[in-house]
Amino acid sequence: MDQAAMAHEETGSVIISRWFVDTRRMWPGAKIQNAAPQYLALIPPVERKRILDKYNVADARMSLASALLKRVYIAKVTGLPLSEIKFSNRGDMYGKPIWAPPESSPDETWPYIDFNVSHQAGLTTLVGIVVPNGISLSGGTERALVGCDIVAPRERLDADLIGIEEFGFEEFISAWAEMFSPVEISDIIHHTPPSTFLSSFTNTTMEAKLRRFYTYFCVKEGYIKLVGEGLLAEWIKECEFRNLQVPKPCSGEERWGEKFTTSKTGVESEEGKSGNELEIWLHGKQIRNVKTELQAFEEDFVITTMMSPSNLLGDEYEFPPWESIDLEKHVLTGRPPG
Ligand SMILES: CC(C)(COP(=O)(O)OP(=O)(O)OC[C@H]1O[C@@H](n2cnc3c(N)ncnc32)[C@H](O)[C@@H]1OP(=O)(O)O)[C@@H](O)C(=O)NCCC(=O)NCCS
Repeated sequence: MDQAAMAHEETGSVIISRWFVDTRRMWPGAKIQNAAPQYLALIPPVERKRILDKYNVADARMSLASALLKRVYIAKVTGLPLSEIKFSNRGDMYGKPIWAPPESSPDETWPYIDFNVSHQAGLTTLVGIVVPNGISLSGGTERALVGCDIVAPRERLDADLIGIEEFGFEEFISAWAEMFSPVEISDIIHHTPPSTFLSSFTNTTMEAKLRRFYTYFCVKEGYIKLVGEGLLAEWIKECEFRNLQVPKPCSGEERWGEKFTTSKTGVESEEGKSGNELEIWLHGKQIRNVKTELQAFEEDFVITTMMSPSNLLGDEYEFPPWESIDLEKHVLTGRPPG
């Protein structure tokens, strides 16, 4: 076993990481192959082709950042060089990407790792968890899982407003009836944003309502990505978020803003009684072991982080802060983040 794997073994502690890369000013130019050849050379041909095939260079930048971020993360937590890091898909989890340990060493010699990536409007995030003692927790069959998702409602504001003008808000939202429960759809349509929330928007009440709609999207995708299914999951309508609070836009570049999380008390709330904290319900039963955080980043982004089982967060019950990752520094020098 290498040094990094041994270090986890010795401390026996779960390590949770939250990283982000802001690609908006990276690799300038219209062609990613001209802007980032030395980074692309580190990515295997099939994955590289997927990046090069992106129609928009902004999407190519985020995909390249994702490919690199995943590798830097696995390099950090396993001690493997970037060139030896491979990924596969979790067969029982509908394609959630996972790290594939080197074939030459048995799986048990490595810590158990789960990670999840999201990219939107120039931002790429990664949430990861390392459990030193292998795949099962406390000798049981439960596995540690993470999920993350980013939404950036203003990216689609103009197109959304055109759609709303044509069909009306109710019909525009009803088009998503396959994805949201009737209670969620009703809340999205009828919720009146409080004036304290509305004051953050220069545009219209509609913009505030759309931010709520996309925040529902964010938590739903976060949960789907935690468990590893896709938006085609049959149970998606049966998964319902209650007491959703939407983080207000936050001014300033690379600034983190308002945050809402499930608390320990919320998780332990009595069956059937709804509190005022975010709750996840599936097939009519409350899911109590998932820690969820929703946070605003800058004016437009809302980012969700999810982790199960939530008790892995220990007494503090908080995720670690987000860490900005400098890919140039960590990829080209081969030194993983501290
Ligand atoms: C998977 C899915 C939820 C991703 O959501 P998204 O908002 O489009 O994209 P995001 O930027 O948030 O996330 C993309 C990342 O999610 C990860 N991802 C892909 N499939 C995933 C899955 N099934 N579960 C969890 N994470 C997944 C990948 O790491 C991907 O980034 P990468 O390609 O750079 O590695 C969405 O694409 C989806 O539902 N697709 C429909 C197809 C489907 O249902 N597939 C499964 C049925 S077989």
